[in-house]
Amino acid sequence: MRLAAARLPLLLTALAAVLASVYFKVPPLLSLAAFLLIALATAMAPRQPRNGRRFSGGARPRILWPDTGMKAVAQSLPHPTFILDTGGIVRFANAAASQAFAQARAGDALSMTIRSPRLREALRLAAAGQETTFEFRERSGAELVYVVSVRHVHHAAASGPFILVLFEDVTERQAIARMRADFVANASHELRTPLAAVSAIIDTLRGAAKDDPVAQDRFLAIMHEQAERMRRLLDDLLSLSRLEMRAHQRPSTQVDLGQVLRRVVDGMKPLAADLGVAISLDAEGEPLMVLGDEDELHQVFENLIENGLKYGSSGERLEVAMKRIPSAAGGLVVASVTDFGPGISKEHLPRLTERFYRVDVASSREKQGTGLGLAIVKHILTRHRARLDIDSTLGRGATFRVSLAAAEAGPEAQPPSGGQVGAQEPAEV
Ligand SMILES: Nc1ncnc2c1ncn2[C@@H]1O[C@H](COP(=O)(O)OP(=O)(O)O)[C@@H](O)[C@H]1O
Ligand SMILES: [Mg+2]
Repeated sequence: MRLAAARLPLLLTALAAVLASVYFKVPPLLSLAAFLLIALATAMAPRQPRNGRRFSGGARPRILWPDTGMKAVAQSLPHPTFILDTGGIVRFANAAASQAFAQARAGDALSMTIRSPRLREALRLAAAGQETTFEFRERSGAELVYVVSVRHVHHAAASGPFILVLFEDVTERQAIARMRADFVANASHELRTPLAAVSAIIDTLRGAAKDDPVAQDRFLAIMHEQAERMRRLLDDLLSLSRLEMRAHQRPSTQVDLGQVLRRVVDGMKPLAADLGVAISLDAEGEPLMVLGDEDELHQVFENLIENGLKYGSSGERLEVAMKRIPSAAGGLVVASVTDFGPGISKEHLPRLTERFYRVDVASSREKQGTGLGLAIVKHILTRHRARLDIDSTLGRGATFRVSLAAAEAGPEAQPPSGGQVGAQEPAEV
């Protein structure tokens, strides 16, 4: 077979041997011996592998490409996923991977584009058949945290051994865990302060103030105040936890928002009078029906109006207004609470609905605030698929605007999007 394969060079060699004998007087026996020697060498030379022929030395490994089934599985994964060969070269990147790591393309070494010593080590281990999982922080732009799984993949039907690298984005999960821990720390701290005050007073009543009825009265009044503060805090915490449990159930009863506002405003009149603030209510086109939970909507406007009175009392005026805005989707009912106090500077606005977030902690405590009022408002509005917008100009006051779908519109009507202060996304904690 080898001789047949080399027939052309052998034929030329034979021709050369004949010509050498005829024209250059080489002895015919010598020519024949030379030809036979070459033919023998040809017959004994090892055959080159077919697919090795394309490479210069035949020493480079064969490139393996993942088969269609394997790629289809990787493509269907929601997480950025790469298929590498055992040399660490990307052979396939699914859509999520191309989006998250655009610079890592097929044909490139993954560890050159995603630079992490742990990834390099994991790839080395995976090539030897070992599985690894590690955390990877990507610091370009907003920091993202991934849990990376590196696995050796090989089965009889596949075209060869591969390494599967899967990036699971855990940024949000970690942020929620951190918020939860912060929340417990904040709540404990808020409860510990009045508790410490009460304990200290009990010691004083037992000791120094034992026989001093005047001091005793004063201390009991402080104890009462601190106990009330703890009660308010526990009430708010329970409200939040109840709201969280019902976060995904949208209320379905028809409520007249005009009536709710009138009741809240009436209830707030004594506080307004104490603070020297005049409240006005402008509720045109009553009744304005919305789908909601009456008690919860009451709580929303109680919080907003109380804040306006307490924090905006220097403006001496508070305007509560409500109107219906017709739209293709069936219309909105927009209720607003505007005060003319000191206002809130821009950097605080996006954070106001966070739990325990206060612009001025001392002023909030002094005004019997828990820092949970607007967090409760946000939770209630999220459940109602409603929106909260906050506008404020420093020194001029603040407007808190609630947009709810009008009841006649049916449950599908949605408030328009844009510019809202986080009332639409679900509860984080
Ligand atoms: N109308 C307002 N004017 C100025 N600041 C406000 C107003 N409403 C809320 N704030 C600020 O937002 C913070 C959070 O409000 P809230 O969640 O109701 O908590 P608090 O229990 O302190 O009232 C308040 O502590 C206050 O600093
Ligand atoms: Mg409040």
